[in-house]
Amino acid sequence: MHLGVIGFGNIGKELFMLLEDLDIARITVLVRPGRMEAAVEQLESMPQAVAARTTFVDGITAFLAAQSDFVVETAGHDAVLNYGADILKSGVDLVVVSIGALADSALYDTLVAAARMGKARMILPPGAVGGLDILAGLAPAGDMQLRYFGTKPPKAWAGTPVAQTVDLDTLDHVLEFFRGTAREAACAYPKNANVAAALALAGGGFDDTHVTLIADPAATGNSHRYELISPLATFSVDIANKASGGNVKTSLATVYSVLREIRNRLGPIAI
Ligand SMILES: NC(=O)c1ccc[n+]([C@@H]2O[C@H](COP(=O)([O-])OP(=O)(O)OC[C@H]3O[C@@H](n4cnc5c(N)ncnc54)[C@H](O)[C@@H]3O)[C@@H](O)[C@H]2O)c1
Repeated sequence: MHLGVIGFGNIGKELFMLLEDLDIARITVLVRPGRMEAAVEQLESMPQAVAARTTFVDGITAFLAAQSDFVVETAGHDAVLNYGADILKSGVDLVVVSIGALADSALYDTLVAAARMGKARMILPPGAVGGLDILAGLAPAGDMQLRYFGTKPPKAWAGTPVAQTVDLDTLDHVLEFFRGTAREAACAYPKNANVAAALALAGGGFDDTHVTLIADPAATGNSHRYELISPLATFSVDIANKASGGNVKTSLATVYSVLREIRNRLGPIAI
């Protein structure tokens, strides 16, 4: 496999630490302009066998010209917006980890059309959450009521709208600060709304998925709980995730979710 990776931040670098034993012949990484030198330096702390197979590029033209077989986006919403359609149109399957970007229905439609045009597939990994298999399986039966509760330590909400009205550094009680639809959550809290978006896309859609966001000073990581009531099944999922070292907003399970997509692509079994 020639793996394409967009972004070399927290998820990208953690992922690199896990690729050593996989049958990957080449890796091309798309970084922002001006970031190549720093990325090459950071590669020195990665497994040597992985580093030796890696090339960095800093523009989408060079990235497309490299002709990866399979691309994983680990960069952010603007990367999905700016590069997603071109990659799919070029016929390459794309794993989108910044799934909250798809709350923008115009972007979603553009990417679906690009995937059709390129006969490629946009793959939406579960990321930090689980149970999307049964959720997506039941969705065609309709009438889903899903309530999602996302809890993180106060510092993980820094830089979001709640930080403008609450002093997160001194918060000493559990604070439910947002209630709304998954679409509203994805707009107001884009970097923290990936799980809500994944649940919405797998289940009943952005406008029928109810989201509560919580800051909890006692939380040591990010936890995701949801309850589903549907005509065919009722279930709940409760996941306590360890945050990754490089970014308190990101759960380590997300890195492994991307790894799973790569392993499934390599086969011989996909699960
Ligand atoms: N699906 C999920 O459950 C889930 C969970 C956690 C994070 N995420 C998303 O994954 C993404 C990455 O998370 P992270 O913790 O690695 O973030 P990060 O900020 O540590 O790393 C992102 C990296 O991508 C680079 N980047 C951003 N835009 C780029 C572009 N246009 N071209 C090339 N590189 C670009 C940045 O410079 C940075 O190095 C975020 O969008 C985050 O919201 C999804």
